[in-house]
Amino acid sequence: MSLIEWNEQFLTGHPVIDHQHQALFEQINELEQAAIMGCSEAELFRLAEQVRLSTQEHFRCEEQMMMEQHFPGLEAHRLEHQEILRNGEALMEQYQNGNARLSETIPSSLRGWALQHILDEDLQLAEFMRQRARN
Ligand SMILES: [Fe+2]
Ligand SMILES: [Fe+2]
Repeated sequence: MSLIEWNEQFLTGHPVIDHQHQALFEQINELEQAAIMGCSEAELFRLAEQVRLSTQEHFRCEEQMMMEQHFPGLEAHRLEHQEILRNGEALMEQYQNGNARLSETIPSSLRGWALQHILDEDLQLAEFMRQRARN
């Protein structure tokens, strides 16, 4: 298992979004590193909770931008944010109910959103804002 590496493919060109994405990558890597090093499940839970809260805040920020800019893809984008957060919460709940080990479930579940969502949805949003700033 390797850590997710930040590279220019993830750059949206929007300074606030890029800054937040990079900070999230760092937190995710810290969490994955802790899983690789065999940290306790309680420690993984603490780190995962941090990632969840930062993600929630980041999504709120993007949604605010989408509203201000009247982004036509707002609803679809917001639905995807909600689904990602729901999946994260479900995973934390499974752990709390004793039905999942974070060390086994976290790495694969985090990648899905971090990589795919940025590449699919966030790049579109940033491109829209760039176009809008030009006109
Ligand atoms: Fe997003
Ligand atoms: Fe994002």
